[in-house]
Amino acid sequence: MKPKVYLTRRLPAGAMQVLEQNFKLDCNPHDRVMTREELLAAVKGRDGLLQLLTDTVDGELLDAAGPQLKVVSNYAVGFNNIDVAACTARKIPATNTPGVLTDTTADLAMALLLSVARKVVPADAFARAGKYEGWAPLLFVGTDVHHKTLGLIGFGRIGLAMARRAAGFGMRILYHSTRAAAAEIEERVGAQYVDMQTLLAESDFVSLHVPLMPETRHLVGQAEFEAMKPEAFLINTARGEIVDEKALVRALTQGEIAGAGLDVFEFEPAIEQELKQMDNVVILPHIASASIETRTEMGLVAARNLIAVLLEGATPPNCINPEIYG
Ligand code: NAP
Ligand code: GLV
Ligand code: GLV
Repeated sequence: MKPKVYLTRRLPAGAMQVLEQNFKLDCNPHDRVMTREELLAAVKGRDGLLQLLTDTVDGELLDAAGPQLKVVSNYAVGFNNIDVAACTARKIPATNTPGVLTDTTADLAMALLLSVARKVVPADAFARAGKYEGWAPLLFVGTDVHHKTLGLIGFGRIGLAMARRAAGFGMRILYHSTRAAAAEIEERVGAQYVDMQTLLAESDFVSLHVPLMPETRHLVGQAEFEAMKPEAFLINTARGEIVDEKALVRALTQGEIAGAGLDVFEFEPAIEQELKQMDNVVILPHIASASIETRTEMGLVAARNLIAVLLEGATPPNCINPEIYG
């Protein structure tokens, strides 16, 4: 008998195929996020759960699933939607999908940076609206990216991948993270470890690459915006709650910073109304890992983690609470 797995939203075909081959798979039939009630009912009696960052996994959900539940596999690298302690208390391994989305996410962070600096989105809208009447010296004049200073907050997989891209643009790269990287890594991309104040004061672009956790909630708020240059831009492809979104609106309104490129929002999917009215803000609906190649790979990694636990009785490759194995 194949183990019973519940999937909270359809994934790309390549991943669906592997899941269907290996498991008795049931899936959310709707093309939308499941409601909490639907999710609590759907998990009952499953051996494994494959869920998204829009699904909260907590003690209540694990208990609703029942004692048969052996693994929760997150279709994301970020796992702030999971109460890891609740999983650990029940000896349930929780897993994520690190690595396979690193370059895709950094590509989009760079796309946001370039778009906001060079006014790509409003210029496109202008041209489409039939307003283009000929080349003009001051038409959509933006700011240069090359040779500017990029400040990376969080220098893990994606932060480093962003540094590699920025190096190609001849940018000066500063970073702040829990600790300095090895000298050879710093040298390879030309990145320099600095304290947060220096990073904020010197960067033309500040890009966030830390996980969301209690220590990083509102890591960037009013004081940080005040410390940034008025010509600087904020890029956020990490998590919305890392930025105090009200303070961001205020900083943009008061000209404390020049603009922002955002893929994530504090109260996602809700977005501050004022942000939507600003031409110097690029707003994307959380698509940083959204390439067909990467979304398929993420599904395969999530499936691999389920297979390890449910079919092989092994430690899953991407376990985020390895302490349960002693
Ligand atoms: P990672 O490799 O774990 O990198 C995170 C880095 O942040 C690590 O170097 C970590 O240091 C550092 N860090 C942790 N707490 C910090 C703090 N308080 N101050 C400064 N630095 C801190 O993770 P990743 O794969 O790069 O992913 C980063 C995050 O991006 C994910 O957690 C996820 O939320 C987000 N993400 C978003 C999208 C999207 O679609 N928009 C896609 C992918 C990922 P230590 O290693 O020393 O803890
Ligand atoms: C996406 O936001 C992820 O964490 O993978
Ligand atoms: C612009 O199109 C130029 O030729 O400088």
